[in-house]
Amino acid sequence: CGIVAYIGPRQASPFLINGLKLLEYRGYDSAGIAVLNGDLKVFKRKGKVAELEAFIEGQDHSSTVGLGHTRWATHGEPTDINAHPHRSGNGRLVMVHNGIIENYGSLKTALQKEGHVFESQTDTEVLVHLIEEIQDHGNLPLEEAVRLALDRVVGAYAIVLMDREHPDKLVAARKASPLVIGVGDDEYFLASDAAPLAGHTKRIIYMNDEEIAVVHRNGDLQIKNIHNKVQTPFIQEFDMQVEELEKGGYEHFMLKEIHQQPQTLADCMRGRLSLEAPYVKLGGVDEYEKTISNAKRFIIAACGTSWHAGLIGEYLFEDLARIPVEVEYASELRYRNPIIQEGDVVIALSQSGETADTLAALELAKDKGAMLYGVVNAVGSSIARLTDAGSYIHAGPEIGVASTKAFTGQVALLTMMAISLGYKRGRIPNSYFHKLISELHNIPAKIERALRCEEQIKYIAKEIKDRQNALYLGRGFNFPVALEGALKLKEISYIHAEGYPAAEMKHGPIALIDEEMPVIVIATNRSAYDKVVSNIQEVKARKGMVIAVVTEGEKTISEMADYTIEIPDTEEPLTPLLSVIPLQLLSYHIAVMRGCNVDQPRNLAKSVTVE
Ligand code: G6P
Repeated sequence: CGIVAYIGPRQASPFLINGLKLLEYRGYDSAGIAVLNGDLKVFKRKGKVAELEAFIEGQDHSSTVGLGHTRWATHGEPTDINAHPHRSGNGRLVMVHNGIIENYGSLKTALQKEGHVFESQTDTEVLVHLIEEIQDHGNLPLEEAVRLALDRVVGAYAIVLMDREHPDKLVAARKASPLVIGVGDDEYFLASDAAPLAGHTKRIIYMNDEEIAVVHRNGDLQIKNIHNKVQTPFIQEFDMQVEELEKGGYEHFMLKEIHQQPQTLADCMRGRLSLEAPYVKLGGVDEYEKTISNAKRFIIAACGTSWHAGLIGEYLFEDLARIPVEVEYASELRYRNPIIQEGDVVIALSQSGETADTLAALELAKDKGAMLYGVVNAVGSSIARLTDAGSYIHAGPEIGVASTKAFTGQVALLTMMAISLGYKRGRIPNSYFHKLISELHNIPAKIERALRCEEQIKYIAKEIKDRQNALYLGRGFNFPVALEGALKLKEISYIHAEGYPAAEMKHGPIALIDEEMPVIVIATNRSAYDKVVSNIQEVKARKGMVIAVVTEGEKTISEMADYTIEIPDTEEPLTPLLSVIPLQLLSYHIAVMRGCNVDQPRNLAKSVTVE
């Protein structure tokens, strides 16, 4: 689900195709572009952008204005017809759309009564017909017809339209689905996120909800909101280098991102962590220190991998800062009539900053009077803008659909928050506080060391790549890491995997253990070491294959396990930052050996901007 569009002096299609490739990571199943050169021409195809590129080769797609789309099916299967762009009934308009029009059924019926005939099963085609109907009826400028149509729409959208009768402008709008405008010299680039803009311009406008923008070939730009009020565009500087969007010599983005972690964590901590007072400096926390420090409780809301980082956050905040924490799937929180009140701080964790469920949970919490804190990677994203305060994790663009460096960035950020709050609230003894600060400093170098297990991981991956199932076990801080290890494996290799607190194994999963079942045990905890050793014995007694992640130099487990992977020693609350590394590598190599599309696993999207 990605949108690109261009208007200016250059040929549009190279930017459109390249832009769509840069948005591929968001996940999609069909792609298309439309250009305007006298007539509107639409080219669309089920499958990858490369297939679209091959399809348009040799055809006339020359034009200095155009728009493009990658679609992730919601209404209607992935087919050529359902792919975007979609035309209006009279063929005058063409539109791309991300999001969902929830009331498309009733709109469609009403339009059919007016004689509209639909080619596709999509909600998008309904919307472009509605815009056409309003435009025709009142003989209105396109932007006004768009505004009136959107006023009748329930749902989420980012849209861009082209009008055959007005080749010198594009009209765009957004609500709950991201859209940015890159401002060039007499040219404009529109896209779902900043990635396609890199190398073209350094000036960006993040559109707000319910805004409608018109960009003109002569450089004019107008933004109005849905209530017809003129808005002043806020142009920001952004600095994304083209290299950040390339594989940089790695076979896949995911592998690059795994290996970037020493650097991304150093970036996350740079300027925030020091060995001298004030030790931890987090702008957002400092600004709202009283509210955060006196919070009755924290509620962490997130989805997917970010939710796993949130679980580690719970252990960190409760252990180090003694602040009660609840971790919620954002999708559940938003619909279950939760108790949230003033004095609560809701922390949203999100790599993309655009996840629809997380955004909706935040809106709800805001209405209930909670303070909102964002821990986000994507600069300028919706969650970053909606929250009262927050911290960016500075991991740089994460392109692989399966999250890796964003996870460790989130965990590092939460760790800094917890340590600092614990210290300020007098809950951590001085000496332990200093130990944690200096250990956190050492983490990037220790990740570097943990990454050295890769050759060994490849060997283990070969042993288990043909298994049907896998079980991941961990305790304490490493229980969420077990969940994350299992998620990584299922996401990219399609092997069924489950994560469990090690001690819970005997309440169910133990029934599954036989010689076919690889069990990956994180056995680095100092506090529960003996207990994890017993869990490993229980697996061995049932002939399960044990792969143990242990601390360097450990002996007992090495003698029991089939394979041991060593990671450097550190303070227990910091172990997730190291123990997750071999699990990321293991999933990656298993998926590669199984011939899976690692960076774009089937059915998954990087940024889920629909419910
Ligand atoms: C999708 C992605 C996951 C991600 C989750 C939450 O499912 O495939 O990798 O963890 O969304 O995304 P967020 O951007 O909010 O962290």
